[in-house]
Amino acid sequence: MKTGVYPGSFDPVTLGHVDIIERGLKIVDKLVVGILNNSAKTPMFSLDERIRLMKTACEPYGERVEIVAFSGLLVDFLKEQDSTKVIRGLRAVTDFEYELQMAQANRSLYPEMETIFLTTRAEYAYISSTVVKDVLRNGGDVSHFVPSSTLEMLYKFRR
Ligand code: PNS
Repeated sequence: MKTGVYPGSFDPVTLGHVDIIERGLKIVDKLVVGILNNSAKTPMFSLDERIRLMKTACEPYGERVEIVAFSGLLVDFLKEQDSTKVIRGLRAVTDFEYELQMAQANRSLYPEMETIFLTTRAEYAYISSTVVKDVLRNGGDVSHFVPSSTLEMLYKFRR
């Protein structure tokens, strides 16, 4: 059974993330969504809130998707999950430099691993967690940025 890891901050999960999860499930049997618990970053949504939003968004995929929090190095998390495959989404060429650096740094730490890049659907290319947070902070409508199943929870969690 092939297990892949899809890591990120997911602050909060967007339609773009879910698109990558769906695509990832076409190439691995099981996908572990690793939600970073990083004390250096101050997220808008707490780890628990990010997990709950992601769990709700991934309900349609049942047991093929597991949501797990992680801290520390991604390569250590990968080993813990008994996986050698990281899945990351690319929205535009602007994502590439950062992603390439991260993939190469990770591979230098764990040569057996591969990073698989999947491209987001064009209509989601402009969506990011940062855009969602900015629109939320300014009282705008985010219903076309996030999974509909998470919308109510998102407004409840919003600070
Ligand atoms: O959604 P994001 O914030 O772009 O995800 C970034 C993430 C979580 C994949 C990255 O920050 C990460 O893997 N952090 C764990 C620390 C680590 O392993 N760093 C070394 C690789 S650059």
